[in-house]
Amino acid sequence: MTYELILTRTEGRVAIITLNRPKQLNALNDQLMDELGSALKAFDADDGIGCIVLTGSEKAFAAGADIGAMATYGFADVYKNDYITRNWEQLRSVRKPVIAAVSGFALGGGCELAMMCDFIIAADNAKFGQPEIKLGIIPGSGGTQRLPRAVGKAKAMDLVLTGRMMDAAEAERSGLASRVVPLDKLMEEALGAALQICDYGQIAVMAAKEAVNRAYEGTLADGIMFERRLFHATFATSDQKEGMDAFVNKRKPVFTNR
Ligand code: HXC
Repeated sequence: MTYELILTRTEGRVAIITLNRPKQLNALNDQLMDELGSALKAFDADDGIGCIVLTGSEKAFAAGADIGAMATYGFADVYKNDYITRNWEQLRSVRKPVIAAVSGFALGGGCELAMMCDFIIAADNAKFGQPEIKLGIIPGSGGTQRLPRAVGKAKAMDLVLTGRMMDAAEAERSGLASRVVPLDKLMEEALGAALQICDYGQIAVMAAKEAVNRAYEGTLADGIMFERRLFHATFATSDQKEGMDAFVNKRKPVFTNR
């Protein structure tokens, strides 16, 4: 499939998807989100791919949903047709890890998109925020739910109610970003992490992602039980035999994703 508003490439077993509406600061419209959903689905199904990196431009990861496209919608349009939000949760169904490499603005839907990824590596010029309140709306793709889980209620309320931006240092301090690096090192850092993940057994990687996500979606007791079942299940894989044998025999493991 050819895309107009995203760029895709691969480096080894890493797929890199770049949001590509730089003049509009990567404002997210339905076409872009459709293209993103379809690229993610294709890479998720591709056996040659082990990890996905999602990034934007230096100035903007994404400055939010496309305000121009939304401006004339009424309640009936958005509710009946599920406009704006209809294809956003596609990212949640991706089973391989997705790393957000964020430079510049990640605002509104841009911040929500970054938070749907498995972790965020931020450049030192990154700015995160949920400024929807300034437009007379509220976040619509998980901002009021994922942000408090990431940074706690106090800071999430502060950001959502004032619409202020937080810089990369504050984002890392508060747990939204896992790492902050100089802008010119962003892709190197994100690719390094992605390539490292690709070296591990894919079943363990997918199970680990699934188990960590469970921490957000149920009680602690359920999460612990879910983890235990998956942990035990990894002992049915060849990769567990290989990983442990390699350690015992002081050699590098060769995982076969079985
Ligand atoms: C459409 C946008 C846009 C957006 C920027 N642009 N953000 N277009 N939708 N979200 C366009 C501008 O109109 C402008 O186009 C060009 O990008 C450059 O932006 P400037 O404002 O000139 O740049 P700058 O002065 O550097 O300011 C950057 C900025 C500002 C602080 C990021 O653009 C801004 O506040 N943008 C809106 C951020 C926002 O409110 N996001 C939340 C949207 S609601 P022209 O043609 O004039 O050059 C949302 C709901 C999510 O995301 C729902 C999820 C489903």
